[in-house]
Amino acid sequence: ASIVETSFLVKNLTVNRLCQEQVIAAVNGSLPGPTLRVNEGDTLVVHVFNRSPYNLTIHWHGVFQRLTPWADGPEFVTQCPIMPGNNYTYRFNLTGQVGTLWWHAHSQWIRATVYGALIIRPREGQKYPFVKPYREDTIMLGEWWNADVIEVENSALATGSAPNNSDAYTINGWPGDLFSCPSNKTYRLEVVPGRTYLLRIINAALNNQFFFKIANHNMTVVGVDAAYTNPLLTDVIVLGPGQTTDVLITADQSPGSYYMAAHPYASAAGVSFNNGTTTAILVYENSTSSTPILPILPPFNDTATVFRFSSNLTSLVTSPFWQPVPQTVDENMFITIGLGLAACGANQTCGGIFGQRLSASMNNHSFVLPTGISLLEAALRNVSGVYTTDFPDQPPLQFDYTNVSNSFDLNLLMTPKLTSLKSVKYNSTVQIVFQNTALIGIEDHPMHLHGFNFYVLAQGFGNYNPQNATANFNLINPQERNTLGVPVGGWAVIRFRANNPGVWFMHCHLDVHMPWGLGTAFLVENGGTPESTLPQPPADLPQC
Ligand code: C2O
Repeated sequence: ASIVETSFLVKNLTVNRLCQEQVIAAVNGSLPGPTLRVNEGDTLVVHVFNRSPYNLTIHWHGVFQRLTPWADGPEFVTQCPIMPGNNYTYRFNLTGQVGTLWWHAHSQWIRATVYGALIIRPREGQKYPFVKPYREDTIMLGEWWNADVIEVENSALATGSAPNNSDAYTINGWPGDLFSCPSNKTYRLEVVPGRTYLLRIINAALNNQFFFKIANHNMTVVGVDAAYTNPLLTDVIVLGPGQTTDVLITADQSPGSYYMAAHPYASAAGVSFNNGTTTAILVYENSTSSTPILPILPPFNDTATVFRFSSNLTSLVTSPFWQPVPQTVDENMFITIGLGLAACGANQTCGGIFGQRLSASMNNHSFVLPTGISLLEAALRNVSGVYTTDFPDQPPLQFDYTNVSNSFDLNLLMTPKLTSLKSVKYNSTVQIVFQNTALIGIEDHPMHLHGFNFYVLAQGFGNYNPQNATANFNLINPQERNTLGVPVGGWAVIRFRANNPGVWFMHCHLDVHMPWGLGTAFLVENGGTPESTLPQPPADLPQC
């Protein structure tokens, strides 16, 4: 294993998209930012120089960060932000996972333009558990605003309303030629006929889940969230924000050019969204045809396709990284997730329904981050008054979540703002049933857990029913993920082993829901051995 060292210079950059100039925060002058390539077992050292006008942090989405929680990155969870003009060095190890992950800013909406791929290849002497690809490439799906994204976010937060929709979606930073200029920048992947390619597809968008297809080409899924899967042949893949999917494709069609295209899966009824389609072009070497064939993407509300794709994924148990599912559970949690309301200030006009502000919650707690210190430092230094550890294992009330939209109960809708965490013992097994509440807007919420992969034991629509569900738990080869779209108006059951001391954020990866409070964090205690006890945090950890 080696040490891979690099630098991120974060600065404002003027770019041209959709026929206009826009100033964005960017890493090393590019959008997306640099792709990082390591081998499993390597140590990554990234020196971040913040020369942007914003406070920011960088998160390594999906990296376990075993015994390095201060390198995880979510602001005010594991560190204070790096202030403009300051630097911080992230140093962590990449052991126990192979595949595609990514990195992104974890401060306000800066991640709209501060993101890039993190590719973990097998260590020397090890191979992929599938046919050796001829080449590989990365497809990063993003979202674009003809505006300063921080202003878009702040103006939504100021009125408590939903933020403006994006103006385009992007593949590797470019909207593609179904959007207006400059269309010659559409991303192109040239392929050699007959060869097989590994495509690493990442959803880096803030607020959209996507369908992704390649005209006339099937894909074989071989990994998700840097965990190998059993091969799954499909013509469409679905990715929530934060998720990654590795697929093999073979250039076995007649030489020509074919669009790779993505558009949103919009599960929420009545919520407006940008219905554009972003494209890139798969072009066969030396082919002369110039008009690419466009794939037919599923309809925006095609929940059945989303569910079929997600529930057909299983783990490859012969993977060297596979750990059997813990068969007993120490912490049983039932967590409701959904939108709600927060009171509008006395002299304010608010944009949410009933003239209130929109908010979101888990078990009726709207999570608020601290400001003067991070949760992790408060835990390490025993600073009291920063958080509580009384996050409830059960929601305050259980009722028919599928049938509430016409009986608004303000006690359920008006959720208190709290910084309450769930404390668990080292190595305990945590099981969570996520239940979508559908109190306001029935949506699919991509739930992300920092610091761990979890097993997805079961998922379904409507109310969770323990009798029916437990009988159908997949305890043999469930997919392993760090982010899961909890089905619209439905539920999902996940399980993980808390074998990593630290403070680990768990939140909805729709960036609009996070500041509204759809999150909490796990405080995992030290175990009794050196391998389960945190060393001292680095001396240069930014202070607030
Ligand atoms: Cu990819 Cu907390 O985030």
